[in-house]
Amino acid sequence: MSEQLVMRTVAESQSERSEIIFPADANGLGNLFGGRLMQYIDLVGAMAASRHARATTVTASMDHLDFVAPVHVGDLLILKASVNRAFRTSMEVGVKAMVEDVREQRLKHVSSAYLTYVAVDPTGHGLVVPQLVCETDHQRRRYEDAGRRREMRAGETLRKKRLREELPPEWHL
Ligand SMILES: CC(C)(COP(=O)(O)OP(=O)(O)OC[C@H]1O[C@@H](n2cnc3c(N)ncnc32)[C@H](O)[C@@H]1OP(=O)(O)O)[C@@H](O)C(=O)NCCC(=O)NCCS
Repeated sequence: MSEQLVMRTVAESQSERSEIIFPADANGLGNLFGGRLMQYIDLVGAMAASRHARATTVTASMDHLDFVAPVHVGDLLILKASVNRAFRTSMEVGVKAMVEDVREQRLKHVSSAYLTYVAVDPTGHGLVVPQLVCETDHQRRRYEDAGRRREMRAGETLRKKRLREELPPEWHL
């Protein structure tokens, strides 16, 4: 297949997942454990990336994640994921987590993150993903922002590589 000939719209892969929070997922304060929320974010992000690529994807990175407000036992958690930009074999996906107040019919933002997924074949080799077609101004803005974040990530990856090289040899696996 020629590289990047296939194109897919943002809407084609937009994904949603909802969860009712049970006590088994809570910390001592009765709030959703942060690690579980990260798992939900990763899962819904992978759904969007795999739908866009129509292939298995692996998580390459999760950017800075803020826990804006706690999620309580019994809350209805809604997670929405959207591919912001497709590169060659990787895609940036934005995920927003919200709690739905079912009585007031209102959504409260509790967390959001940007994740990068890489499409892989069954042997783990990278697959070229379809280009992303933006249909709205909002999608175009997210597309541009994702390009800027990719540049920042590249600088960060280089910085981490240098840091690893500076570790004492006995720490190298
Ligand atoms: C992610 C992974 C496939 C990248 O493999 P790699 O050999 O480093 O691949 P490359 O350097 O050729 O990069 C492939 C793509 O991944 C992107 N990438 C690699 N590391 C990245 C990172 N840390 N953050 C964001 N993107 C990254 C590259 O930019 C490139 O994108 P492009 O093809 O769209 O330009 C590999 O590191 C891997 O398998 N990691 C483990 C994934 C996993 O197990 N995830 C679950 C974690 S629990």
